[in-house]
Amino acid sequence: MSIEIRQIHPVFVGEVSGVDIAQPLSADDVAAIDDGMIRYAVLVFHDQQLTDEQQMAFTLNFGRLEDARGGNITKLEDRRLPVGMNDVSNLGKDGRPLERDSRVHLFNLGNMLWHSDSSFRPVPAKYSLLSARVVSPVGGNTEWADMRAAYDALDADTKTQIDDLICEHSLMYSRGSLGLTEFTEDEKAMFRPVRQRLVRTHPVTGRKSLYLASHAGAIIGMPTPEARILLRDLTEHATQPQFVYVHRWRPWDFVMWDNRRTMHRVRRYDQRYPRDMRRTTLAGDAPTVAQQVESATSAR
Ligand SMILES: [Fe+2]
Repeated sequence: MSIEIRQIHPVFVGEVSGVDIAQPLSADDVAAIDDGMIRYAVLVFHDQQLTDEQQMAFTLNFGRLEDARGGNITKLEDRRLPVGMNDVSNLGKDGRPLERDSRVHLFNLGNMLWHSDSSFRPVPAKYSLLSARVVSPVGGNTEWADMRAAYDALDADTKTQIDDLICEHSLMYSRGSLGLTEFTEDEKAMFRPVRQRLVRTHPVTGRKSLYLASHAGAIIGMPTPEARILLRDLTEHATQPQFVYVHRWRPWDFVMWDNRRTMHRVRRYDQRYPRDMRRTTLAGDAPTVAQQVESATSAR
């Protein structure tokens, strides 16, 4: 069996066949998948029946796991999945869909806004890998946008205008845009804004891409309304259909993507039905820009 990758969207996304990712991979297989990630940014696998342990083992072929703390409001004792797995289902610890008015559920709805995983962390994520265990019967597609193609398509003036801009990202911005504005002091500390370049350069290809997310709520040195209009305009540009791949999940589909070059979102689905999606996340290598140094004077 040898790996084959077929491009399934005009600008990115490869569909992979000829590999069982539940089994240990050869060095050649790992290299083929790594090459595919660089070339296509999103890889789709079908019929990959695997356990959490196998998913983590596959993931570790491509880097080290990101520390998941601080990325949500689920308490440790309420977690459904083992450490190392990000729970992006609509389920509670009892395996049933969360109540409609549960704060965790409402917070998790933020995944339906365009974002890049962990852009709210000083060192944002490299790859995310998502296994579909139980799919929603109604809705729940995931969409990815190619932020490199979107950057390339900008006019020269816009590129010049935005190339050196620095944004602030925080889960409080994305959730705030949904009307979730109340946070505990602990959450405020955990979700303190971090800085990210608006245009980032891929460490392997050297190509530039837009680095947007609904977590972005401010641009350094720019009045907030002006910044938010610019971010909205760029997001609207980047998520035009020619840059977007729509994935309709089947059970045991597996998708991995490069957060440094793509944004994604989940579409609405009927929350009465279980949707069990399990993600592993690889840590990034470096911040996109130096972070603000915390000091007594910076707080004034
Ligand atoms: Fe995500």
